[in-house]
Amino acid sequence: MAKKKDAGATPGTSVGISVGTSVGINIGISEKDRAAIAGGLSRLLADSYTLYLTTHNFHWNVTGPMFNTLHAMFMTQYTELWTAVDPIAERIRSLGHPAPGSYAQFGKLSSLKDAPTTPPKAMEMVRILMEGHEAVARTARGIFPLAAEASDEPTADLLTQRLTVHEQTAWMLRSLLED
Ligand SMILES: [Fe+2]
Repeated sequence: MAKKKDAGATPGTSVGISVGTSVGINIGISEKDRAAIAGGLSRLLADSYTLYLTTHNFHWNVTGPMFNTLHAMFMTQYTELWTAVDPIAERIRSLGHPAPGSYAQFGKLSSLKDAPTTPPKAMEMVRILMEGHEAVARTARGIFPLAAEASDEPTADLLTQRLTVHEQTAWMLRSLLED
């Protein structure tokens, strides 16, 4: 069955459009599918941002004999997460939806808890971050069927990249917790 074109997507109709006017999108993914995928990516963005902030918090507040190792490791991890949120947000924009970008929105969308107010012990930080990476991986994996169904290869590619990082980082953190 042919998919219905989104309104305003016909070539040539953009002539005379003023600033601020919404222009239709016609990339071969239905409006319904774009909304569903953007919703999933918004949850992934919120998870990733929350994990970024918690990791940066732990970089600042870690103490104990493992200080040097963990302080440096957390910096590598929060830098990666900080870089990762941009392509997720921009994929949401490419699908025609606004990207969430406030603490209130992230608080509602995130599957991760906020960082504890009192800094935990070093190994508890490692456990919290490991579980955070696993949670983000679950969120990313949950969007895959939507992307596959809609032939949204750019989103599937992005999800694959994020899953690789989160599963590898969870493994590294898990290894620190084992004897
Ligand atoms: Fe620093």
